Amino acid sequence: MIASASPNIAFIKYWGKRSSTAWHDRNIGLNPSLSLTLSQARTETEVRRRSAGPSAVFINQQPASEKDSQKVLTHVREICRELGLDPQSAFEIHSKNNFPQGTGIASSASAFVALTLATLGEVLGREQARSYLTVKNSELSRLARCGSGSAARSVAGPFMKWDGEFATPIASTWKLRDTILIFSREHKQVPSTEGHERVLSSPLYQERLAMRVRPRLAAVENAIAQRDLHLLGPLIEEEAEEMHRVSESGLPPVIYQKAETRQFIAALKAQTSRDFYFTLDAGPNLHVISERPVRGEMEALLHKLGITAEIWEDWTGEGPVLHS
Ligand code: DP6
Repeated sequence: MIASASPNIAFIKYWGKRSSTAWHDRNIGLNPSLSLTLSQARTETEVRRRSAGPSAVFINQQPASEKDSQKVLTHVREICRELGLDPQSAFEIHSKNNFPQGTGIASSASAFVALTLATLGEVLGREQARSYLTVKNSELSRLARCGSGSAARSVAGPFMKWDGEFATPIASTWKLRDTILIFSREHKQVPSTEGHERVLSSPLYQERLAMRVRPRLAAVENAIAQRDLHLLGPLIEEEAEEMHRVSESGLPPVIYQKAETRQFIAALKAQTSRDFYFTLDAGPNLHVISERPVRGEMEALLHKLGITAEIWEDWTGEGPVLHS
C-alpha cells in the first residue's frame, strides 16, 4: 500500500517531552502546540508484506542505514502488535521525499504519517485504513506520534492543535503560504530528539511552560479564527525566538541559528511595515509566513544582504492521502 503525507510548520512549538520507556508513551509533548499543515513537500511511502526473506527499508532509493531501518521497522512492528497482528511479518518499505532533507522542513512528521498510514493500509486493507483519515484520525495521530512527536500534527489540515498527547484539526478556509529560506543543508549537530532533552536544563524552560505557551497558543487560535495575519505574525515570531532563546540557555546550550539566520531576521524586523512573518524550527532555516507569494521580495532582500539561500515555496494542505 502507498500513502503520502506533508510536513507541518509549528506556530507554537512542541519543545520538551515526557521521558518514556514504552513505545505507546513515546513523544508526549510537555506543552500543547499548534501548526499549519503544508501541501507541496510530500513523503511517499510504500509498505508491502514480504512472503519470504528479511525486511528491507529503502529511503530515497537507497538502502536505509541500520539505525533508520530499525526505527522504521520498530514502528511497523509496534503498529502490528497494537492491532493484534503478527509483529514478526517481513516487510519491504520504500520511502521518498520530493523535498531535500536537512532543509528545516520537518521530514520526520511527513515520514511517520506516511509510514503509519501505508502500514495500516497494507495490514488492514484499503477500506479499513481509509477510516483512519476520517473517524479514526486521532488514532492515526496517536500511532504516528509514537514515531515522531511532530507527526501527531501531520494527519489532517489545515491547522492542527496538539495537546501533547492527542491532536485535533482546526477547521479554517484561511490559506497561508510558507516560503522557506534554506541557508544550510548541513545535518543539524543536535537532532531535535536531543534538543527536547537538553532544553529541560534551561533556567527559562519552566517559566515558558508555566506562563507563556498556553496564553500564546490561545492568542494564535484567536488570530486563526479571525484570519488576521497582523495578529498572528508577532505571536509566531515571539514563539520562535523564545524557543531558540530557551535552547541557547540550556546546559549545554543548543545553537541552531547561523549568522545568516540572525542577519536575515534583523533585516526583516527593521522593516517598518510588512505582511510576512518568520518562524523557525530546530535548525537555521527560516520559514516566512504570508498570505501572498513573497518569493521575489525574499530574493531581493537576500541579494541586498549578500546572503545566498535556496527557496522552497509551500502552502496550506489538507493532510495525508492513501494511494493504492
Ligand atoms: C522544533 O517531532 O522532530 O520542530 O518527537 O523527537 O521526533 P521527536 O521530535 P520532532 O520535534 C520537532 C520540534 C520542532 C517544533 C515542532 O515541530 O513543534
